[in-house]
Amino acid sequence: MSARSILAIDAGTTGVTTVVVTPDGAIAARGYQEFAQHFPEPGWVEHSPEEIWQATLESARDCLKAWSGDAADLAGIGITNQRETVLLWDRETLGSPRRAIVWQDRRTAEICDRLKGAGHEPRVAELTGLRLDPYFSGTKLAWLAEHEPHTWALVESGRYAVGTVDSYLVARMSRGTWHVTDVSNASRTLLFDLEQGGWSDELCDLFGVPRDALPEVVDNWGELARTDPRSFLDLDLPVAGIAGDQQSALFGQTCFDEGDSKCTYGTGSFILTNTGAQVVRSDAGLLSTAAWRDPSGTLTYALEGAIFVTGAAVQWLRDGLQIVGTAAETAAIAATVESTDGVVFVPALTGLGAPHWDPHARGTILGLTRGTTRAHLVRATLEAIAFEVRDVIETVTPQTALATMKVDGGAAANDLLCQLQADLLGVPVERPRIVETTALGAAFMAGLGTGVWDSTDDLRSSWQLDRSFTPDPSAADRMAAAYALWQKGVERAKGWA
Ligand code: G3P
Repeated sequence: MSARSILAIDAGTTGVTTVVVTPDGAIAARGYQEFAQHFPEPGWVEHSPEEIWQATLESARDCLKAWSGDAADLAGIGITNQRETVLLWDRETLGSPRRAIVWQDRRTAEICDRLKGAGHEPRVAELTGLRLDPYFSGTKLAWLAEHEPHTWALVESGRYAVGTVDSYLVARMSRGTWHVTDVSNASRTLLFDLEQGGWSDELCDLFGVPRDALPEVVDNWGELARTDPRSFLDLDLPVAGIAGDQQSALFGQTCFDEGDSKCTYGTGSFILTNTGAQVVRSDAGLLSTAAWRDPSGTLTYALEGAIFVTGAAVQWLRDGLQIVGTAAETAAIAATVESTDGVVFVPALTGLGAPHWDPHARGTILGLTRGTTRAHLVRATLEAIAFEVRDVIETVTPQTALATMKVDGGAAANDLLCQLQADLLGVPVERPRIVETTALGAAFMAGLGTGVWDSTDDLRSSWQLDRSFTPDPSAADRMAAAYALWQKGVERAKGWA
């Protein structure tokens, strides 16, 4: 019998999840390994590439150990990853000269202001579908060129490769043989021409990035690269699917048709709507982005509302404030109070993304009294996640208005959050049985790339509803008042740094 299962690796912002997905679309085993977050200065966020790689190995090893199947049953590997984060590595040794600059890092706010001041934003937005914000890779690379010229000289000489986390993992898994990325990751760099579907010389010049340092842009599925068993757990397998995590979740939610949408609750939250073959542009703070390119070369696009800090706010409660022991206990703690008693938390810990786009915003807690307890703050954090999503949904046009919202990601397991979200959006929130949709999407792509599934139609039946949360009409007034208070809080958070 030919190999039929897929090993899918989701290298996210806080950790790496690995799953084995069987041909019926079920998850047969999983592994997870968190890695360190480095905050060298206020507003800066870095990851060690070596720590990402070690976490990947650990998580994949644990997953394979937990699986009853055999490595010979694996048809291929799917990779999905935190997007926009930039890494450099030596093409020979695969060592990195410095830590990765993470998508949440705000250090390039001044570079963005400078480029906007020089009038570059309209052209950059026209070519990329994005905006000049520190979120994206381009200004992070420009910062490296400006502040670390000795390192950058080795990028220019060709010794160091430049890439996102997907390219880095492929390089490590293939022992440096392959330097590739896919359209969804490429489209987040500010260097990619969205309509043309390739790197743009004009943008590479603007941000000072040598085009030769960048990976080759490949389709989302097919034989894209191959692992070297000496480097990757004795496995000699095709890397048959690659996608940025949000596009992968869109795929994993089987949002294959124009108008299909999903919201993923991860480190941040990301609402994507499939816009088919059209680049749909928004003047309300949404991004136009590549969703995927199939092996026939057909590009599918999406419209995206990117919210930077949602799950990361819960992580901050745990690691920064240390007022909760685990993310999972937040629902029970929040449920011990009926409301936040007027406490509002705007978790703009790394500025604000959609729809406000203010890199100078900072986290803000308002309405504290002597009666405030950790339960109020925990509840305010969960409410903030739901408010942030509502902020994005407020901007959608009737054309893209939602009838239901499909949710996924770790926090989608939190019933309180799902109910709050339904109450705030006024539409049913649908949670699938599998909420690890990001990894599932990469597995689906790799399965299409290796013939486990023949077409996206084969995948539709794997989506199964776990629970639908319907809006509670009796909560409507309370939610409207709470949302109005939240909006005031957002205004206070803006422009702080
Ligand atoms: O754009 C950033 C995004 O890719 C990070 O996703 O799942 O780590 O929150 P996540």
